[in-house]
Amino acid sequence: MPSPQARAGLPGPALAIIESANLAFSEPSCYINTMIGADDFRKVLGHFASGVTIITTCDSDARPTGLTASAFTSVSLDPPLVLICVDHKSQSHPTIKERGCFAVNILSAHQQEISRRFASSRLDKFEGVAHAISDLKLPLIEGAIAHLECTTVSVHVEGDHTIFVGRVERARMDAGEPLLYFRGQYDRLASPSPGA
Ligand SMILES: Cc1cc2nc3c(=O)[nH]c(=O)nc-3n(C[C@H](O)[C@H](O)[C@H](O)COP(=O)(O)O)c2cc1C
Repeated sequence: MPSPQARAGLPGPALAIIESANLAFSEPSCYINTMIGADDFRKVLGHFASGVTIITTCDSDARPTGLTASAFTSVSLDPPLVLICVDHKSQSHPTIKERGCFAVNILSAHQQEISRRFASSRLDKFEGVAHAISDLKLPLIEGAIAHLECTTVSVHVEGDHTIFVGRVERARMDAGEPLLYFRGQYDRLASPSPGA
């Protein structure tokens, strides 16, 4: 029987092959044989260059919480919708779910340290990080190049993450270069855009 790579007309060894009951691929497909390992999957995904955000919210005692996230995307222009994907293991997950609203802080190139801080599970993430609490009671991190304040309109559990779709209630932007993430490393634009 020809290998899945051969069937897909692709070279063999470098090709990662995924199989998942949740993926509705019919044969012939390159995603047939074995489940890709989590480390390899992360490496492959790391080739998709992204910006970096901090997702923030407050718990029922008004304590701010948040995490670094690159799984953020626009969903709809009318109505204005975005989505974020949050790991079930994240300690911010229950609060984001229960609170029903969240802010997306799009980080600037000089906020690498803040990104590292919010990518850990420490409890004092906001200590020393300049932020304001908005009228919607959401923490907005100073120095971010854009803020979006969202009300959760739907929640989808997929695998080990939850997709939160948020309606954008307020949004603002500032000048500045974005922080980038590519192949597991922080980076910045080679030539900043004129508006930065
Ligand atoms: C650049 C970068 C992007 C990340 N993107 C996500 C993401 O989209 N969703 C997620 O759940 N975790 C993401 N993480 C991992 C979380 O930030 C990390 O697990 C963090 O410890 C979660 O904090 P918490 O457990 O206090 O909520 C990312 C980490 C980095 C460094």
